[in-house]
Formats: sequence, C-alpha cells, structure tokens
Amino acid sequence: MRLFQKSIVTPGILQNVHPASWREHRFGLPQARWERLRGRDFWITGAGTGYGRCIALALAAAGARVFLSGRRIEKLREAVDEGAALGIDVRRCIAVPVDIRSEDDLARAVRHIQLVTPSLYGLVNSAALPQSGETAFPLTGQSAAAWTNLLTTNVTGQWLTCKAAMPLLDHGDGFRILFLSSFAGWASTPGFGPYNVSKSALNTLGASLAAECVLRYPSKDVQINVLVPGEARTEMNQGSTESPYAVVSMVLVLLSHPPGGPNGFFFNRDGRHLAFAYTQEYPQPLLAVH
Ligand SMILES: NC(=O)c1ccc[n+]([C@@H]2O[C@H](COP(=O)([O-])OP(=O)(O)OC[C@H]3O[C@@H](n4cnc5c(N)ncnc54)[C@H](OP(=O)(O)O)[C@@H]3O)[C@@H](O)[C@H]2O)c1
Repeated sequence: MRLFQKSIVTPGILQNVHPASWREHRFGLPQARWERLRGRDFWITGAGTGYGRCIALALAAAGARVFLSGRRIEKLREAVDEGAALGIDVRRCIAVPVDIRSEDDLARAVRHIQLVTPSLYGLVNSAALPQSGETAFPLTGQSAAAWTNLLTTNVTGQWLTCKAAMPLLDHGDGFRILFLSSFAGWASTPGFGPYNVSKSALNTLGASLAAECVLRYPSKDVQINVLVPGEARTEMNQGSTESPYAVVSMVLVLLSHPPGGPNGFFFNRDGRHLAFAYTQEYPQPLLAVH
C-alpha cells in the first residue's frame, strides 16, 4: 500500500520530549524556524484537550498568539493553566468557545478574534468526535442522528471553520491550514465505519481546499496540509499511554515552513510523508538536513 512507503521522510522529528523543557528542545525546531512562529496569530480548534491543547501551547511557547476553541470553556481554561505550569507566557492564549457545527457560533468566534487581530496566519483543525460505542456494527445498526452528528463535526464543521476563518487568513501574504486526520481515513476497520468515512472525507477536504486556495489566492504563500497524528492518550483515546505532545514537532515543522512549502500533502507525526488517492508523497524533507 503506497501509504506505508517509507522512502520519503523528514528527519529530526522529536516525538518523545518533555513539554516543560521546551526552551531546550524547541520541539526539534531549528532556532530560525522557531523564530518564524513568533508574533503570528493561530486559531486552534479542539484546543481544550488532547492534541489541540498541546499544539496551542507549543505555539504559544514559540511566541505566537493562539486562539483556543472548543465547546467547553472550562477545558479551554484548563489548557491555559497547563501552559502557565509549563512556564509559557499565557497572556498570548485567548479562549474562544465555539461549536464548530454552528455557522452562527463560528461567526461570533471570528468577531471575537477580530477584536484582537485583523488577521490569522494559521488555523489548526483538531476538533473531532470519535466513533460512538453505540453499536459494534455502526454502518448497519447506527442511528442516522449519530451518523449526522459525527459527519457534521468531523467534516462539515471543519469546512465551516475554514470558511469562517478565510477572511482573516486572506489578510496577509500567506497562510497555513492543518487538518488532523487519522489512518482511519485510509482504513476499513469494522466498528469504525462512520469515523473512517469522516476521516477519508477530511483527507479529501484538505487536498481539495489546498487546490482551490492556490487558484483563488495565486499571489499568496498558501500551505494547507493533512497530518496523521497517530495514537495518544486523549479524551477520545483512553487506551493509549503515549503523550499527545508527540505530535507537536511535526506540526510546528509544517506551520513554520517558509514560502514554497507543501500544499495539499499528507504527513505522519513521525516525519513520514504519505500518499492519499492520487496525491503523491511530498518529495523533499521539510527541514534542512543538518
Ligand atoms: N488520540 C488519538 O489516538 C488519535 C488518533 C488518530 C487521530 N486523532 C485525531 O486527532 C484529533 C484530536 O483528537 P484528540 O485525540 O486530541 O481527542 P480529544 O481530546 O477528544 O479532542 C477533541 C476535541 O474536539 C473538541 N470538539 C468536539 N466537538 C466539537 C465541536 N462541535 N465544536 C468544537 N469543538 C469540538 C472537544 O472539545 P469540546 O467537547 O469541549 O467541544 C475536544 O477538545 C482528532 O481529529 C482525532 O480524530 C486522534
């Protein structure tokens, strides 16, 4: 299967670092790439927990301003507290509660962000729902309501977030969008059918949005990509023992890439470049080899 081809990788990705030591390891980023994140504005969904929280805090550690979104304000506050405990200047962390299934809610969130900044440099779509455990045979036994809620969150909600953010992303010379997908998007695992469908659709959304934005914003440095974060212990995966900070290194490598980087490509958190459908692996490492 082309997905598992291992010939193209970005070396230097650090998956096992302690977040409290961020000043020493910078999550594997060379100083110049770390500096590229400073002072930029990012919107992270699903930022109250799991991967989204770790990504938001790492960006803040690098000196970015981050807008943290999710439905539960208490989780967003917990995330900010975790940042403070890690020695990060959390004055740059702003909680913006939102339900990504609602266009009205997203419009309100954008107005909130616009009170602080006229532009965003990046959007990270980490919000998602897992497969509900309602039945072991969801494609033949799940309710239509459960299907709709999953697809509305994992696909429509991500699209609506991109659409709502676009006027702010369009404000500068270029922008970054990252989608957190899953190997489920390439899989047919029984019991996870609707989730598999949602992640496969998300892969297509990422690649299609990348192609559309290159045409729509021809003079801008557009980099829209999809990342498979792999397993980690988060609210949706209590079975893993891995830290969700394991995803941060690859995320920061993508978000800090200088102009001319990948657009419409697929990556794994360990540095592997992936293929999806007719999309080939991005052909060169994302960090200068040193
Ligand atoms: N953890 C893994 O092993 C694993 C493996 C492969 C892929 N992933 C992917 O990684 C991404 C992050 O997941 P995670 O593992 O970090 O899980 P998580 O801790 O459950 O995070 C998901 C986040 O999405 C938010 N969310 C859900 N519905 C929302 C809505 N309607 N509006 C706004 N926010 C919403 C949740 O916050 P609220 O409930 O407060 O809204 C939660 O903070 C997901 O795309 C997931 O599919 C995870």
